[in-house]
Formats: sequence, structure tokens, C-alpha cells
Amino acid sequence: MDHFEHRDGVLHVEGVSAEVIAEAVGTPVYIYSRATLERHAQVFRDAVAGSGRHHVAFAVKANPNLAVLRVLAKAGLGADVVSGGEMARALAAGMAPADIVFSGVGKTDAELAAGLEAGIGQFNLEVEEEGRVLGALAAARGQRAPAVLRVNPDVDAGTHAKISTGRAENKFGIAISDAPAMFDRLAREPGLDLRGIAVHIGSQLGDLAPLEASYRRIGQLLADLRAAGHAISHVDLGGGLGVPYRPGETLPTPAEFGAMVARVTQDWDVTLMFEPGRVIAGNAGVLLTRVIWVKPGEGHPWVIVDAAMNDLARPALYDAYHDFVAMRPSGTRMTANIAGPVCESGDTFAKAREIDVVARGDLAVFRTAGAYGATMASTYNSRAKVPEVLVDGTRFAVVSERIEPQAIAAAEAMPDWL
Ligand code: LLP
Repeated sequence: MDHFEHRDGVLHVEGVSAEVIAEAVGTPVYIYSRATLERHAQVFRDAVAGSGRHHVAFAVKANPNLAVLRVLAKAGLGADVVSGGEMARALAAGMAPADIVFSGVGKTDAELAAGLEAGIGQFNLEVEEEGRVLGALAAARGQRAPAVLRVNPDVDAGTHAKISTGRAENKFGIAISDAPAMFDRLAREPGLDLRGIAVHIGSQLGDLAPLEASYRRIGQLLADLRAAGHAISHVDLGGGLGVPYRPGETLPTPAEFGAMVARVTQDWDVTLMFEPGRVIAGNAGVLLTRVIWVKPGEGHPWVIVDAAMNDLARPALYDAYHDFVAMRPSGTRMTANIAGPVCESGDTFAKAREIDVVARGDLAVFRTAGAYGATMASTYNSRAKVPEVLVDGTRFAVVSERIEPQAIAAAEAMPDWL
């Protein structure tokens, strides 16, 4: 459930007409609903509440906006971060250091040191050498770094290849067959408190079976590590739960996911950690755009909108589907292609899509844009950096300003020899 709906024929975000936001802020603009973020956080927390001791860390990469992170911190979530920049955001938004998990396949020494300095809750190790570097940095500071080993279970997540992470051929994690010996070696590092294992097989998973298969492999590894005398207190189950992008699409619910987890992990006796991103933020945001032209095309007309692939990269990158809904649907439909102004054919949001009839000047939204939307935006074609708005009931605020091309150019320098 979300809080984006047409009222009196006009799209509202909670108690605010999206037209009012377009008027005040201009387009394109991302709009997030606080009530939806809070609801999704609560639904996920309720879903995993039956699996004993646990910790939910929002995957900041999905939406790192500071105001969004503050909403989620207040809703009781911690943060899963993959860079020093994300860690700084989580801290700035008010997340407790102990509630922050540092994932990421290539953490620099400076990032590891910053994590130790902040006293974050857990480092997810991706390479044996990372454990040694982290252990040495921690020991030099008189600390023991809480850490888990990220394991690659070699399970096909059945999602888009570019967002699959759990196959042996992927760059992520340690081969599950190497994990016991590596765990033995790293457990002897004085600067490490090696306390568990982590797994994450991919994103936008539409089926629980691959997740269950990976968790069962982790359960076997857990038993093997304990048999070898290791104390395992934490298992991080990652993120990956998919969300519906198409009208009427059904996916496993958080409650079904939680029931599966409770079943598979019932004898584990560990603190479970979760890193949901998309399922919290995806359907809590839309990208509001205005139609520039409707241009005749071969087969179908082209609806050219003022949002482009630089604002919402997912269709160009992953052939992703984002539902397109008019601000004031007339009830009549048309079949069209939808594209942005960027000068490449990849800047196409939809081909031969049945949509509400729209004309020059009309407003519309791309739905399910709250995760991996604004954060993946660029300024390609010297377009502005897209702004973000947060709605809370009947009020709204710009939580990230539009950065105009002139401001971006101002950060460039002309050498005095030119
Ligand atoms: N934990 C780890 C270690 C991850 O790599 C990811 C996502 C997550 C958690 C969160 O996954 P989620 O619950 O959001 O599925 N830009 C792509 C998605 C990339 C996901 C990368 N890792 C997209 O727009 O589909």
C-alpha cells in the first residue's frame, strides 16, 4: 500500500496535489511520501519480528537522501552502507553508529579507518586480505572490529544479470567452499571480532526459492563453522526482495519472506540482520515529469517528457518497467512510446505502452521511483541534477535542490594556459 492516489481526478501524494509541487518546484522532480516510507519500514519490521533477535539496516544505496534516512531512522531502521559517503550520510541523518553495517566489495583503507573511528556496528568482509587490513587498523587503535564474512553461495537469483550477485562468477563474497578455512585463519586476527557470515544474492527477486536455497547453504556453513569450534552470533541475510512495478503484478510479500526466514532459521540461534532497500523505498517515490511534445512516430507516437535517462536510469540500464500515470487521467487511453530529451535512443522509458492520453504541457509520473532513482541520476547532456521533495501529510519540503547546469559548470576550472 502507498499514499499516491487520484483524488477529484488529480494525483495526490498524501494530502498534497502533485500539481502544487510541480508549480512550486518545477519538473522533473522526485516526490517521496513519508507515510509510505514509514509504512514499508513497519511492514518489514513486523514481517521479520517472528525470527527472534534481529536488526534491520536500510540499504542506503537505494535512497541516500538525508531526509529519507532521517524518516527511516525514526522508524527504527539502521543502515547498510557501501562507501564512506553513505556512512557519513547515515550518521548525519541520525543513525546510531552501532546500527550501521558496512558492506562493499572494495572498501579503501581510509573507509575502513573511518568506520572504526565512527564505531560502526559491523564490517562485512569480502576478501581475506580485507580482514587482515581491518584487523591491523583496529589493533593499532586498541579496538576489535566486529566483522562477518560475506559468502557467495553460488545461487542464481533469477533476476536481471546486472543486479545478480550470488553466482560464483560474480565479484561478490568469498566462495562458500573457501569459507571454513578462511574463517579459521581470520578468527585468529587479534583486531577482529569475527562473529558471523553474510549473504546477498541479488536485487528485485520475484521468487523466494533462490533466497531460501542460499539461506539453507548458509545454515549448513553455520553448522560446519560451529562444529569447528567457532562462536557464531550473527548472520546477515542481505536484501533483495522485489517490489511490484507493473499494475497488478504480484510478488512475494514481506510477510511471506519473513515466514520463510523464520522457518529456515529457526534453529540457528543467532542475531539475524536484514538489508532491505527497494522494498522500503521503491513504491514510496515517484518521478514527476511534464510532457514537452507528442511527436508522430512510425507505429506509435513518441511522448517526449522533460525527465530523461539521466534522471531515472533504470529503464536504460536494466530495461526496467516504470508505470506511467497522468496527473489528470481523462479515462481515454493511447498506445505510445515514452522518451526523454537526451540525445541517444537508449533514453526511452517505454515502447508501445498503453497509457493515459497526454498532450503537450500535461503532467505525469513514473511510479516506483523511490529506490535507485534520484541516487543514480547524473547531469549528462548538461541537464540539471534532479531535485527531491518529501511530503508529510499536507506539507512538503524540497529535501534536495535542483542543481542548475551553471552551478555544475562553476565547479570546473579553466587552466590559465588555455
Ligand atoms: N545488501 C547488499 C549487499 C546489496 O548489494 C544490495 C543491493 C542490498 C542489500 C539491497 O538490495 P535491495 O533490497 O534493494 O534489492 N541499481 C539496481 C539495484 C542494485 C542493487 C545493488 N545491491 C536497480 O536499480 O535495480
